[in-house]
Amino acid sequence: MRKTLLVILVLPLALMVVAACGGGGDSGGGGGDADVQAGQKLFAKAVLGSQAGCSTCHSLDGSVVVGPSMQGVGSRLSADEIRTSILDPDAVLAEGFTAGLMPPVWSDKLTDEQVNQLVAYLSSLK
Ligand code: HEC
Repeated sequence: MRKTLLVILVLPLALMVVAACGGGGDSGGGGGDADVQAGQKLFAKAVLGSQAGCSTCHSLDGSVVVGPSMQGVGSRLSADEIRTSILDPDAVLAEGFTAGLMPPVWSDKLTDEQVNQLVAYLSSLK
């Protein structure tokens, strides 16, 4: 059930991204479409850097799994706030959640580029 919902939600998004990239030219860094796509793939991984991946704790459909849903996170948080939330999870806590739940491992497990890609992707979720 949850899987189906996810597919329904993610598919139009994926199609939009594909359509937007139709020209195929622009692949530069700095929050471009290529970063968003790469970030989406990273986010969806069940295992990331030998840890349980982001999507095991964060839904995209508004439901709370272990952490808050990433639905509309790009409207709630600035890119900088998203970056801080990933690299130093306990620095600022999402309302209603306690410290120590999100593993503070990502600054070691992810490259700068991967963090940039995740930030670009999450920022695009308006
Ligand atoms: C083991 C579960 C878990 C994993 C894995 C996890 N998170 Fe989290 N995350 C949480 C919890 C719980 C919170 C809320 C507490 C806090 O703000 O630290 C949170 C908070 C966040 C926030 C802030 C959300 C808000 O509304 O303020 C962001 C952004 C985020 N996580 C992104 C990620 C990304 C990207 C990954 C993968 C690299 C990831 N998380 C992996 C549990 C997890």
